[in-house]
Amino acid sequence: MARPNPASPGSSRRTFLKTTATAASVAAAVTPLIVPQGVRAAGSEVVKFGLIGCGGRGTGAGAQALSANPSNHITAIGDLWPEPIDRALVSYTKQHPEQVKVTPDTRFTGLDAFKKVIDSGVDVVLLTTPPAFRWIHFQYAVEKNKHVFAEKPLCVDAAGYRAVTKTIEESKRKNLGFVDGFCWRYSIGERATFPKVHQGAIGDIISIYSHYNASQLKMTPRQAGWSDTEWQLRNWLYFTWLSGDHIVEQAVHTIDKVAWAMKDEMPARAWATGGRQQRVEPAYGHVWDHFAVVYEWANGTRAHVYCRQQDQVNTGVSDHFVGTKGVCDITSNFSPKNGGLSYVIREHGDKGPGWRLTDVPKDYPSAYQVEHDELFASIRDGKPINAGQRVPNSAMMAIMGRMAGYSGDVITWEEAITSTEDSFPKNLDLAAAMPTAPVAVPGKTELQWLKDLREARQKKSAPPKQNA
Ligand SMILES: NC(=O)c1ccc[n+]([C@@H]2O[C@H](COP(=O)([O-])OP(=O)(O)OC[C@H]3O[C@@H](n4cnc5c(N)ncnc54)[C@H](O)[C@@H]3O)[C@@H](O)[C@H]2O)c1
Repeated sequence: MARPNPASPGSSRRTFLKTTATAASVAAAVTPLIVPQGVRAAGSEVVKFGLIGCGGRGTGAGAQALSANPSNHITAIGDLWPEPIDRALVSYTKQHPEQVKVTPDTRFTGLDAFKKVIDSGVDVVLLTTPPAFRWIHFQYAVEKNKHVFAEKPLCVDAAGYRAVTKTIEESKRKNLGFVDGFCWRYSIGERATFPKVHQGAIGDIISIYSHYNASQLKMTPRQAGWSDTEWQLRNWLYFTWLSGDHIVEQAVHTIDKVAWAMKDEMPARAWATGGRQQRVEPAYGHVWDHFAVVYEWANGTRAHVYCRQQDQVNTGVSDHFVGTKGVCDITSNFSPKNGGLSYVIREHGDKGPGWRLTDVPKDYPSAYQVEHDELFASIRDGKPINAGQRVPNSAMMAIMGRMAGYSGDVITWEEAITSTEDSFPKNLDLAAAMPTAPVAVPGKTELQWLKDLREARQKKSAPPKQNA
């Protein structure tokens, strides 16, 4: 169960947590670094932020933080490598030259760049590396009393889930801001529709069908001179220890909407199927390219979630919530060619248009921008918002789906969150060899956490069975 802290190889998750706890107890006596009340009115007080992970999403998140308020300054930046930092800074300097305050002394590379950014005197950090690192970066940021924007997913395995759960408790205790990258929670259409569902517009939800069917994402071919570890990090989408597989990395957005519809109650259990058909070459690591998961709640409600990343096939993102009184249909594709954004609620038997929000204005505020507008405004107001436990829960729900898929077993929520699954490498070293894990074949591939689970079940009683 021990996990190393990549910034100081050899230290385990246990020592990392112990260090955090010690620092936290000291910090408990210290007022968290919050911009004083009243600055929002003027809006001119400088809030300094740092960015950790400057790829596609990180560069976007940094730009949104700069757009959120002209007095938001980027003062530190970090990545494993220098090139993404250069690209991000060129883009920011073009768009927001007055707000870019990074100096040669406040740009950092390597596995410990996150510590240097956090320790550079920033008020807020944006965590946008591949998700495997999130628990470590989040934990250190909260230990140092920083407000956080963290991209989804917050974790890729059960050990990561437990770590971020503790960190969120700590961030709340310290009254720190925390906003997540589950962008649909910040989207105008979803924010108009979900409250209606919760207020009973379709009655009690009895069944859900949701899907996230996408095309393949970028693959970075291996170059001569790259170690296994460097290749995996540069091609992180295709390694479960880094991305969680695409159900956890991408379809987690859809799973998060399912959780939202169910008022963030977690399902009791899940079963699933899936595999890989298109990306069979070693260049694609060992992740799958399609999953179909059934989630079942304690009251018997089921959600059927499909996701895939395949080319030359139908793509789309939509949700179909069936209640005792009616149905809610959401098509949440940004691209108009895939249906754009459309939200419809209709009672059973109603042949009319029902309630609908189909004319979402073209210039509606981007959910990505809203995330930063709300986080920074709340910090300036002295009342930092904290998205809380729902964020790791949705990630864990996706992990539970992957566990059910890879194993072919029915997995309960309790089994998932207490699992021994801990995929972070014991000694992460950029130059090291790291064999690619096998593609999981249910019923065949040996998975340590599954072995542990089956042993634990045997000790208790019979494993859970899928209902008829
Ligand atoms: N909310 C959304 O719609 C959305 C969209 C895209 C990506 N994302 C999420 O954003 C995150 C980043 O995705 P991306 O598309 O920007 O990936 P990316 O590959 O474009 O960028 C990741 C960057 O992180 C750097 N990095 C890797 N490990 C690091 C470490 N330990 N310390 C510092 N830097 C490190 C890489 O060098 C790279 O520059 C992921 O969690 C992803 O799931 C969210």
